[in-house]
Amino acid sequence: MKSSAHHKLYLLATFWTLGLLFLGSIVHATGSSLACPDWPTCYGTMFPKMTGGIFWEHLHRLVAGALVILFAVATWIGWKAEEKRPGIRIWSCVGILLLLVQSVFGGLTVILKLPDAISTTHLALAFLFLTLVTVLTAVTSPQSTTVEKQNLKKLSDVEKIGVLSAVLIFGQSVLGGVVRHTGAGLVCPDVPLCFGEWIPPLEAVSVITHFTHRLLGIIVLISLIVLAYKSFDLQRGSQIRTFAMTAAVLGVFQVILGFLSVYSLLAIIPVSLHTLIAATLLSCTTYLVSLSWRERLILEN
Ligand code: HEM
Ligand code: HEM
Repeated sequence: MKSSAHHKLYLLATFWTLGLLFLGSIVHATGSSLACPDWPTCYGTMFPKMTGGIFWEHLHRLVAGALVILFAVATWIGWKAEEKRPGIRIWSCVGILLLLVQSVFGGLTVILKLPDAISTTHLALAFLFLTLVTVLTAVTSPQSTTVEKQNLKKLSDVEKIGVLSAVLIFGQSVLGGVVRHTGAGLVCPDVPLCFGEWIPPLEAVSVITHFTHRLLGIIVLISLIVLAYKSFDLQRGSQIRTFAMTAAVLGVFQVILGFLSVYSLLAIIPVSLHTLIAATLLSCTTYLVSLSWRERLILEN
């Protein structure tokens, strides 16, 4: 079946958002967050000299601006095409609103000089928007049932574990933002142990936050492995199965990147990839759940 124009635009917006998240993480990791001291302009102009930290910070803003335009066009085309599905129209408008709020939070991080709560909220809103644009991409994709009716119960189990995994990944990512913005990234200086112990002395808040992030990371990985295991029973070639397998492999890679981030003393490449893979995991599991939900509705009716 042919893809609609708005589906293609939502898909492009999903990849664009992943790229933007990666860039945002590079902005922080390269210490470029305050390279432009003002907002919405940078040194009073929209066309500053793109050197040093200004390159990363201003590029992040330009890519964010392009996302707002891209998503607004997708919403407009989707509005005309989705007369029978008002939910898609409404959630797409919510997406535009979310992007505008997010841009204001981006500006506030600069104007208020990076308060932890604002920076972490900026990360959380980015992940929320990614979830929304991923759902819109999934539900506007061409419909095809790849799962047979006798597998309905298995599909419902996969969906439940998928929801649990997505919620865990979102929570873990916001916690990661707290670890990053409260400067707790290196409070456990060794890996995989922390102060040479499996369970470190849990007295300082920073150690508790960091250790909880490591622990939850392992729980996320277990949930992704269970998801892949359960999906393995679905038909070969089913998109749901492919996404579940991909998420499990990425989960292993993500835990390795977490450890590498500490080992490399928060080097730019591992920490920025750590943000990108977190976002990709959220998008993969959200897509899987949305597809599974749609297939289940088709099979049940
Ligand atoms: C023009 C609007 C925007 C501005 C001025 C802006 C500004 C910034 C700044 C200064 C940082 C570094 C924050 C820090 O070091 O604490 C940042 C990081 C980030 N931005 Fe934006 N941003 C904007 C729009 C967006 C949008 C639309 C998204 C995604 C939908 C986004 C996603 C991110 C992410 C994921 C990070 C990394 C956060 C972290 O490391 O915890 N930004 N942004
Ligand atoms: C598998 C699930 C995991 C997910 C989804 C995840 C996600 C994240 C996210 C989104 C951030 C914030 C990055 C940002 O603000 O841009 C973060 C930070 C961090 N994560 Fe993870 N993480 C996981 C597992 C781990 C593990 C197992 C470790 C092991 C040590 C780890 C170590 C770190 C560190 C050190 C930071 C702070 C980076 C910094 O200060 O720049 N993560 N994580």
